Amino acid sequence: MIFDFFKKREIDYTKLPQHIGIIMDGNGRWAKRRGLPRSAGHSAGAKTLEKIVKECNKIGIKYITVYAFSTENWKRPKQEVDYLMDLLLDYLKNAEERLAGENVVIRAIGSRKELSEEIREQIAKTEDFTKNNTGIVMNIALNYGGREEILSSVKKIAESVRKGKVLTEDITEQFFEQQLYTAGQPDPDLLIRTSGEMRISNFLLWQIAYSEIWITNKLWPEFSVDDLMEAIYDYQHRKRRFGGV
Ligand code: IPE
Ligand code: IPE
Ligand code: MG
Repeated sequence: MIFDFFKKREIDYTKLPQHIGIIMDGNGRWAKRRGLPRSAGHSAGAKTLEKIVKECNKIGIKYITVYAFSTENWKRPKQEVDYLMDLLLDYLKNAEERLAGENVVIRAIGSRKELSEEIREQIAKTEDFTKNNTGIVMNIALNYGGREEILSSVKKIAESVRKGKVLTEDITEQFFEQQLYTAGQPDPDLLIRTSGEMRISNFLLWQIAYSEIWITNKLWPEFSVDDLMEAIYDYQHRKRRFGGV
């Protein structure tokens, strides 16, 4: 489309969002519309993810956090949960080959203890394998919940206070951030959600305090590089005030 073409040309590559968060929603609906099982939607979604990460890396985005499995997604039928876990395992295993030459740093954020031994080991391997890469940092939110993240940080801090290692007055926003899974990373500037749902669904609750939210009706498997560019274009035309005037 001509419009997309102009938007793409107008993107200011010196003012890109540093960090993009994505709630990749709508895989099930995409499959349903095609008369396919939900699993087919998840497979298609994994392909979209690869394409979008590559593009973000190419244009110079520094961080991307993608919501792959929430702490609430265990409520789904076992068959679907198993499929998603297999897909994630496969994704992590092949990250080396698939993102070959892409120089991506892969990290998993979320609670690990509920994950299988196999996935935990694979996460450790993939993180280790990619840790010295210098391209985009990709956080895969896997068994991630914003409330779980905040609670586990509070527990860590409470323990340090109990041991006398930390004083109550030391608990500043900066200090608190250092306890989160995203410690050391900037907050997302832009938060994208596909499939039209106007909610956060427990994603990065602390970190999105001032993120610009961009929602599209497109379902995740059909989300394209043009859609990404449109989100970035719109982001660049927002007036971020951070509470000021
Ligand atoms: C997003 O797609 C992927 C995950 C939550 C793992 P959904 O599976 O939620 O798809 P819809 O929302 O049912 O269409
Ligand atoms: C959010 O999508 C979680 C992921 C994309 C992994 P959901 O489909 O689980 O969210 P709700 O249930 O519509 O809020
Ligand atoms: Mg959904």
